[in-house]
Amino acid sequence: TVKMVREQINNQLKITKPQGIPAMKEQLIEAANYSLEGDGKRIRPILTWVMGVNEYGLDASAIVPLLRSLEYMHTASLIFDDLPSQDNASTRRGRQTLHQVHNSATAELTGLYLIQKAIGEQSSLDQFNAETVLALIQYSAQKAEDMCMGQAMDLDSKGKALTLDQLNMVCFYKTGVAFEACLVMPAMLAQVKESEIAALKKFAYHLGIAFQIKDDLLDVEGDMLLLGKPVGQDSDNNNSNFVSILGLEGASKEMWEHYCLAME
Ligand code: IPE
Ligand code: IPE
Ligand code: MG
Ligand code: MG
Ligand code: MG
Repeated sequence: TVKMVREQINNQLKITKPQGIPAMKEQLIEAANYSLEGDGKRIRPILTWVMGVNEYGLDASAIVPLLRSLEYMHTASLIFDDLPSQDNASTRRGRQTLHQVHNSATAELTGLYLIQKAIGEQSSLDQFNAETVLALIQYSAQKAEDMCMGQAMDLDSKGKALTLDQLNMVCFYKTGVAFEACLVMPAMLAQVKESEIAALKKFAYHLGIAFQIKDDLLDVEGDMLLLGKPVGQDSDNNNSNFVSILGLEGASKEMWEHYCLAME
């Protein structure tokens, strides 16, 4: 299922240029497609598809705009995260980062462009009732705000000895929130009960933190060729994360702890 859905998503991500637009306008679309075409896992829209289609019986073609919007938002967050003003990364998804290929201004504008595209996609979920879609867009805006806060907290924590509670909070806001959105949005479209949404949020909290801890572990133990991004970046940047505070073994234990809590 994962492979089949990933392939479908990959075929639907490319932003098409409207007929006859000026060449200067095409540049940003090409920059956005450059970042989208990189070899990402697409795990967020895949989760949305599995929940939406397999679990809630939504029509696969009706949720295509939602899948696109989630990957556009996520890709925008990576473009910003890689900027020299944030993590200053040279490689992403197996290719040079966007600001390296162009410059920071182009990367920033492409990130903003992708976010607007994402909102455009959400507002074109025309197989669902308008009130539901409006609630989804409102929820999405709140989650995007939360992610900004998470990135700000993350950057602000450089070199600081965060407590476990603080680490969990940073990871939830910068990473967990996007996983929550991937699970909650199809649930909103399926108009499930509030108690089910609450359960999804609880699961996503632990899933998101476990995912980020794994990412932190891979920054130490991973293979750059498989990851498609540099390793050792977190220590180069003096980042404060589960590995820098708890060590490899401690971080690994916390990851499994969150995994178990998510499964529970
Ligand atoms: C990277 O996300 C950012 C984190 C939250 C750790 P992914 O690991 O899902 O990156 P892609 O989309 O596969 O490139
Ligand atoms: C990613 O955290 C947070 C985002 C949501 C962008 P990282 O900074 O650890 O992600 P990578 O390692 O660069 O993919
Ligand atoms: Mg970062
Ligand atoms: Mg980074
Ligand atoms: Mg990382």
